[in-house]
Amino acid sequence: MEKNVTARIRSGETLSWSPADDEHAIAFAYNQAGEKYESYADGDAQELYAFDCKHAYGDRRIWALLDDKLRALRSSGARSIRILDLGCGPGTWLLRLVTRASALGFTSIEAKGLDIAEAQVRRARARGRRLAANEGLQLHFETGDICAPLPEAASSVDLCLCLYGVLNHIPPDRIPSLFAEVARVTRGDFIATMRARGSTPTICVGAIEDARWFWHDDRNSLLEAELQNGRRISLGFHLFAADEVRALSSSRFELTELRGLDLFHGRFAADRRWNPPTARASTAFLQELDRLEDLYCRDPEFVDHATHILLMAAPRKPRSDVETLQRRL
Ligand SMILES: C[S@@+](CC[C@H](N)C(=O)[O-])C[C@H]1O[C@@H](n2cnc3c(N)ncnc32)[C@H](O)[C@@H]1O
Repeated sequence: MEKNVTARIRSGETLSWSPADDEHAIAFAYNQAGEKYESYADGDAQELYAFDCKHAYGDRRIWALLDDKLRALRSSGARSIRILDLGCGPGTWLLRLVTRASALGFTSIEAKGLDIAEAQVRRARARGRRLAANEGLQLHFETGDICAPLPEAASSVDLCLCLYGVLNHIPPDRIPSLFAEVARVTRGDFIATMRARGSTPTICVGAIEDARWFWHDDRNSLLEAELQNGRRISLGFHLFAADEVRALSSSRFELTELRGLDLFHGRFAADRRWNPPTARASTAFLQELDRLEDLYCRDPEFVDHATHILLMAAPRKPRSDVETLQRRL
């Protein structure tokens, strides 16, 4: 079947993106990747906060934002928190968050991760077991499609995440209903990243060097690759422009941030297949990249050429809430 898809794309045919086929292919690809996905995405699974993998720069920036959100909520006097991670993969972000939330003194922590790939969910559960004794923590990982209606009650989630490529896998015409659900269940912040149109390539399930070849077909929003072990993947993968993200999200959310993430660090990272150790970037050089990142991360052209687009948003209050508030004033 995969071969047919490639042949059809190469012949110039426009393929319809069937959600049912796609969900199956995505779950299959991430199930097959198993623990390799985790070491590719997160580095050493035992070191939650080491941030030493290839994506360390983006991870560090996202973690700084999330840590700030936890601290701000705790400083406001809150002792309970509810977190939802859509497309949680092996659960790394949720494990980081609940571990830090406990350390900050939250006494009731409800955290749920949802992912379509059962093997990733099993891995997340296994990793979460060591936290089972933490008093006040309810940590669940479930297999499911984030495009289905969410069971969470309205305005019940303090922090809702959808990080690293999850949204790229969702057919664009399904994003409005997904965002409507996220806005319904979230009372705090929604934080998402998605691959930008001008980003460097990824094969999603592993490192780029794990691929014999890869190809992104923009017209059909498809990622095709053949891995070194001969396995083929064919996944729905839509690359976003910042304007598109703004258009998709602004009817449901007040955007607090829409910017590029990792404009320079990934591109300047050494490739062990090519660069000698002496080409490693100095601290001063990395600091200069940080400065440039801050300078250009909101420049529209740079945003569309970043590795990721970062969206931070709070749900718009339903009109009736705003009117009630206005009447009270
Ligand atoms: C690149 S991984 C990112 C995982 C995790 N968010 C992280 O940052 O490490 C993308 C994840 O999205 C999940 N995914 C893709 N489409 C999904 C869907 N419709 N429902 C639930 N999960 C989905 C995949 O199974 C995969 O685990």
